[in-house]
Amino acid sequence: MKNRSEIVAAVDFGTTKISVLVAQIDDNGLTVLGVGTAECEEGLRKGMVIAIGKVVEAIRQARHDAEQMSGCIVSDVLVGVGGTHIVGVNNQSMVSPKAREITEMDVTRVLDMAKALSMPVDRQVITMLPKQYAVDEHDGIKDPVGMAGVRLDAEVHLVTAARSALDNLRRCCERSGLRVVQFVANPVASALAVLEDHERELGVVVLDLGGGTGDLTIWHGGRLVHTGVIGAGGELITRDIATGLRTPMSRAEEMKVKHGCAWGELVNASDQIEVPGVGGREDKALSRRVLTEIIEPRVIEIFSMVKREIQKTQYDDNLAGGLVLTGGASQMPGMVELGDEILNLPVRLGQPRGIQGLKSILESPALASVYGLAVFAALSWRADMPKSMLPVTDVQPSVGWRGFLKRIGW
Ligand SMILES: Nc1ncnc2c1ncn2[C@@H]1O[C@H](COP(=O)(O)OP(=O)(O)OP(=O)(O)O)[C@@H](O)[C@H]1O
Ligand SMILES: [Mg+2]
Repeated sequence: MKNRSEIVAAVDFGTTKISVLVAQIDDNGLTVLGVGTAECEEGLRKGMVIAIGKVVEAIRQARHDAEQMSGCIVSDVLVGVGGTHIVGVNNQSMVSPKAREITEMDVTRVLDMAKALSMPVDRQVITMLPKQYAVDEHDGIKDPVGMAGVRLDAEVHLVTAARSALDNLRRCCERSGLRVVQFVANPVASALAVLEDHERELGVVVLDLGGGTGDLTIWHGGRLVHTGVIGAGGELITRDIATGLRTPMSRAEEMKVKHGCAWGELVNASDQIEVPGVGGREDKALSRRVLTEIIEPRVIEIFSMVKREIQKTQYDDNLAGGLVLTGGASQMPGMVELGDEILNLPVRLGQPRGIQGLKSILESPALASVYGLAVFAALSWRADMPKSMLPVTDVQPSVGWRGFLKRIGW
């Protein structure tokens, strides 16, 4: 039998950077073939496009690098959607199977009903994950196809987004010569990239702390139960440093990445750092503690927002797997320790896991969401995943998955 394989491409629209990833999926899993990343300052704010021209330019550059590395031409893409307009909701539905035995068609019908959520016209469902099925009120079923029953119930988690935000992302792709195959919620993608299966079972929070937003999902009993986005990220920390030390944003960013620490207790009182002088003034020495005193209150505020988001759900006492922290801003020393303290949960750093190909590049937590988009695309290839538990998205009918990409020379 001829080995099956498929090549997919994904674009992550981050507040600070655009990433494009090309991967091959086959029966052995996912292999990353190429990645391109381009800085994109002031193109997006908190996940929403605010300057199309800047975004298009960054896509072109990231795409070019990903194409060069992979030897593939990127044309049709999976697009990750972030931003505070992303909201998750749980829903359920019920159908009577057409015959005594439940068929794939019955599952499609019950999922279609669960997806038909009544919501304002300016919102759209982008990702739906089935949580479980019940047949004649026996719940906890993952694959009801073939079972006998007169009633089929489905519980699902839906992630919705603002239609205008999606339209603008599509517009940016089209202007860059790319067609959107489907939109995927970034918080879900990041979680798929970093979580271990047992953490999903135990109950776990994933926080992808980027430049403009914190993407949050909660998983319990193996299912996605909550999605939310907080409007805060690493850029706020940089802004605080720029204001506090009266230095331009670019220098504040440099100092943050080089010397920043989220928790004062981890810094020696005698540690000194150099603050670059502005406008021809000389560099001056500063205690690293002073920098930490600016950073720490902002990080406490961000974790407090996360805590409130978790407390909005009924899962705050059911998180034995703790919190997995990823995203660019997770890289600052002290984040894990301070997160532990504020959230009262065991926190670990989450890097993309199970990577085949380009491991050294993709280990960065800043690439968790773009890698997670490819993991999302690969879910339907997993032998342990019943079809009825696969995510449902709006695949653009004109495109489809076949012929997703053409590999040069194929
Ligand atoms: N070593 C580091 N220490 C502290 N912060 C860092 C470090 N490296 C990157 N960051 C911060 O991470 C942030 C960018 O993270 P990331 O690339 O995940 O964001 P993004 O995907 O562009 O944005 P978003 O997901 O919010 O839309 C920036 O604020 C940057 O300053
Ligand atoms: Mg991001």
